Amino acid sequence: MCGIVGYIGNKKAYPVLIKGLSRLEYRGYDSAGVALLENGTDLNVYKRQGKVQDLVAFVEGKSTAGTLGIGHTRWATHGLPNDINAHPHASGDGRMVLVHNGIIENYDVLKKELIKRGHTFKSETDTEVLVHLIEEIKSKYKVDLVEALRMALNEVHGAYAIVIVSKDEPNKLIAAKKSSPLVVGLGDDEYYLASDATPIIEYTKNVVYLEDEQIAIIDRKDGLRIISIHNKEVSPEITELSMQLEELERGGYDHFMLKEIHEQPRAIHDSFRGRLNAKEGWITLGGLKQYEDQIANANRIIIIACGTSWHAGLVGEYYIEDLARIPVEVEYASEFRYRNPIIRKDDVVIAISQSGETADTLAALKMSKDMGATILGIVNVVGSSISRITHGGSYTHAGPEIGVASTKAFTTQVTLLAMLAMMIAKKRNTISPRRFQALLDEMEALPKKIEKLLLSADRIKEIATEYKDAHNALYLGRGSSFPIALEGALKLKEISYIHAEGYPAAEMKHGPIALIDENMPVFVIATKGPNYEKVVSNIQEVKARKGRIIAIVTEGDTAVKDVAEYVIEIPEADEILVPILATIPFQLISYYIAVMRGCNVDQPRNLAKSVTVE
Ligand code: AGP
Ligand code: GLU
Repeated sequence: MCGIVGYIGNKKAYPVLIKGLSRLEYRGYDSAGVALLENGTDLNVYKRQGKVQDLVAFVEGKSTAGTLGIGHTRWATHGLPNDINAHPHASGDGRMVLVHNGIIENYDVLKKELIKRGHTFKSETDTEVLVHLIEEIKSKYKVDLVEALRMALNEVHGAYAIVIVSKDEPNKLIAAKKSSPLVVGLGDDEYYLASDATPIIEYTKNVVYLEDEQIAIIDRKDGLRIISIHNKEVSPEITELSMQLEELERGGYDHFMLKEIHEQPRAIHDSFRGRLNAKEGWITLGGLKQYEDQIANANRIIIIACGTSWHAGLVGEYYIEDLARIPVEVEYASEFRYRNPIIRKDDVVIAISQSGETADTLAALKMSKDMGATILGIVNVVGSSISRITHGGSYTHAGPEIGVASTKAFTTQVTLLAMLAMMIAKKRNTISPRRFQALLDEMEALPKKIEKLLLSADRIKEIATEYKDAHNALYLGRGSSFPIALEGALKLKEISYIHAEGYPAAEMKHGPIALIDENMPVFVIATKGPNYEKVVSNIQEVKARKGRIIAIVTEGDTAVKDVAEYVIEIPEADEILVPILATIPFQLISYYIAVMRGCNVDQPRNLAKSVTVE
């Protein structure tokens, strides 16, 4: 995945690049590097395994002069995370360097040919092959750098967002993209390049999102010019950013994850603000309005997503089938795209994604579009690739989510899916006016209920102390709370490195029960509702095997208290909203356990926020 940045202007480039890389660190953080061009002659490249701060420490005392430069924070795909494989990568003569986000899929064939022709490689990366290929084309055909790049890009397969600096063209930054994102920021006589807008926002609000197979040529004197890799001129379309700088700061919290957990009342409120009104009895989703009939008459709704967003999709399946009575299938994007799925014209495909950049989700959507389906998106990042390729969609408006573990993005996705199900149910007449009104009222009351629930954070912290040394954990739920069991387990795994599994509570008897002993914490969602009694029986079964039960119950519940080691109460709510409320204690438990275990909560090992490689 990786984050890339570039700067050309009158300021010193180094501080701009470092600050930008820190903002992009969520995309990858196993190594980092910069290249700075000074007076058009000295090209200084510094790169280091580790975080951006390790790079800063390494550069200390060395020359950081130069008003033009590029930077990279890596999430390795090809080659170990070490100093040599870190970007930027240089051409054989060292006159040109490049940073890359993506994968050059045919790198192996190209590399073998280049080696035959005398090239030697320092790293194991696919990226280094690209820079050598450009170098070779440039000298063989005696063309300038842009033309050499253009020709090279016609030879490579795969995904790339790249930025190049060359001593031969010392007043230019040259960039290109396909399937990986790249944004150009337009300042006064200065330009920024970055994988997303977060490194740019404090300098300018005017940006151009590059499209696939476009090359941006930024010249100190002549400014920005865009061409396609097929050599067609493109006129840049300027977009104004609406994001605020404060949204990207930690605001007094120890970690972004904790801040984002506590932002949920606001985030959920923002996700329905202006879209529903309980007093007037309506619900509307602007970006989907035009597709309302199509969704309501769909033969089938297919939801595609990865990770936590896939869990949101599973909750959506319960909502849409229950309220709107349309068959729903929820698919892992990575599986869906490779299994020759049946997609028909009257199918509606909905992608769910926080980042809007997840490579598999994006590719599965493109495939569905090519096969004639209507493709829609539920996305958080405004202007992201998924939001741009879909026919229609709704933004979740959760605001920037920096912690790698998804929290507010998930609960706002589920909120939107509930609204979508209600909207379609109303249209199809599958919901009674009374229930529709009751759900509208419940929805409006949700932020306050979450505020109340968050007041129990300290008690949840105490509970976390008890289980912080566990090696395994089980999460159980039924109905629409089953995906919350999956999500609870994923949260614990990804940030505290404790092995955890989520199961439908009744399924426990078919295998996982063998794991239960006096050391096994079993987290159960046992809220009031149609499944309550069945779940209480499941709890008894765990208890009979000496499992340690931590149950999420409805406020005032007494039955579960007697059997559980701990209960966490959530405010009483319609069962449709229980998945949202029940998620929050699980987020907090995982957060506190990870902190107590000394884990890097915001940047867990091996992970990255935005998975832009397949
Ligand atoms: C969530 O905590 C994970 N880090 C991960 O599963 C994430 O949800 C997944 O990579 C999908 O990302 P997206 O929502 O940006 O598409
Ligand atoms: N493939 C490149 C590498 O491994 C870039 C990685 C990425 O963008 O994820 O270094």
